[in-house]
Amino acid sequence: MTQQQTPASTTIDPELLSAARQAFANAYAPYSAFQVGAALRGISGRIYSGANVENASYGLGRCAEQSAIQAMASAGERGFTALVVYTEASPPASPCGACRQILFEFSPEASVVCVNAQGESVTGSVADFLPHGFRLEHG
Ligand code: THU
Repeated sequence: MTQQQTPASTTIDPELLSAARQAFANAYAPYSAFQVGAALRGISGRIYSGANVENASYGLGRCAEQSAIQAMASAGERGFTALVVYTEASPPASPCGACRQILFEFSPEASVVCVNAQGESVTGSVADFLPHGFRLEHG
């Protein structure tokens, strides 16, 4: 397992961190009170961000990472190089299993940095977070 928990010295793309923090501030999480912000850098260099958006019908809530992927794919991009997930959890929260598969669909080799306000981080590639991720191979 190459996923790592590292001290404050981890290098993070400052623009992605800032976008993830902004998305965190926009999270709609009245039911769980657990805000999550995510920001991806698309292969074009453009940044796409997303927050978790909950619903009174709990099962309809959407994770931050999925919101960011929806923004990226809806803009026509089909891959990303890096993802930052920002929470106030310690250790920092990392993507749920469903989000790992959704990230894996586009960019298994992209870097993931999960970080919190104290600068603690959990890092790895998407494939590190989701070993043996599913791909639909025909034939
Ligand atoms: N959440 C995310 O946004 N991303 C994850 O990977 C894990 C969980 C959200 C879903 C829900 O709105 C809140 O965190 C508590 O589970």
